[in-house]
Amino acid sequence: MDFPHLAQKVQQVAMLDAAERIMYCDKPIWIKTNTCQTFITDIERMINATRIGSRTCMGLIGISGIGKTKMIEQVASRLNTPDATPILTIDLSIYGRHIDLQQIFLSHLGFTESAKSLCTAVGINRITERIKEMQLAVCIFDEGNALAGVKNMLIQPNYAYLRAMANRDFGVSLVVAGTEELKVFLGIDPQLRSRFGVWELPEWESEGEDFSRFLKAVVRLMPLRKPSTVDTKEIQERLVVHCHGSTRDIVWVMTTAAKMAIETEHECIDEALLEACLEARLPGFWD
Ligand SMILES: Nc1ncnc2c1ncn2[C@@H]1O[C@H](COP(=O)(O)OP(=O)(O)OP(=O)(O)O)[C@@H](O)[C@H]1O
Ligand SMILES: [Mg+2]
Repeated sequence: MDFPHLAQKVQQVAMLDAAERIMYCDKPIWIKTNTCQTFITDIERMINATRIGSRTCMGLIGISGIGKTKMIEQVASRLNTPDATPILTIDLSIYGRHIDLQQIFLSHLGFTESAKSLCTAVGINRITERIKEMQLAVCIFDEGNALAGVKNMLIQPNYAYLRAMANRDFGVSLVVAGTEELKVFLGIDPQLRSRFGVWELPEWESEGEDFSRFLKAVVRLMPLRKPSTVDTKEIQERLVVHCHGSTRDIVWVMTTAAKMAIETEHECIDEALLEACLEARLPGFWD
């Protein structure tokens, strides 16, 4: 059997039995969109600029589920090596309301002592040395919205530390990722507002070239034995509207459709099958 409509590595999977193929559909996928490519290039530039002394602060803003975390994971895994960590990624969602940015940043650098005890000339020197040793250039705080929900007593110290990171001669650039609420939060502090640039992840547009390319790339990774046609105007519009532009929901619908196509032996995704999946989906909070 020949499956030229599939990506090379998926062609062999298409020969497996239904149960194995259904399981394969749940494997995490990553598609390098134009936006992802631009982001990777911009972070590379940010690293190079940081190395020559020009630091940048970026708010990475996009709706929930659009793909911020995925992009951050990709950029870190591409640019970090066993010998150098130019990118340090810190997920802020795990600290609940107790985000003490200074302490969290220092513990990610490997310091076990309290932040306070490192606030001396010697301490600062050690931090700078550690950053040099790691070749750290960009610190990315993911789930930045959590900053807005911290205990009152930590709000001002966190603003102050963000300003300090942006200023102090640590030689590190900053990225904080989150949704519109993060943009509002960063905008409240006038000094942060003037230091942060905003990098907005565009939402999917039903008539966009990028969206049809994305959908075609997704179906090339689903082990179906017949080619699918998913880049019609009707399908694109239905998906964008129903999923509110969220990549998470779009990928969920496509994956569920692929599994259904295998289960029912239909073996391809078309408008009718997608419709059945959309109907099977629980209504979201927006519906
Ligand atoms: N480039 C991509 N290729 C394939 N799937 C993707 C891509 N980007 C996102 N996804 C899918 O969307 C899901 C959500 O992406 P991600 O967790 O990066 O969103 P997010 O913007 O960080 O959302 P949140 O604001 O809720 O944290 C992923 O688990 C994945 O299934
Ligand atoms: Mg995320």
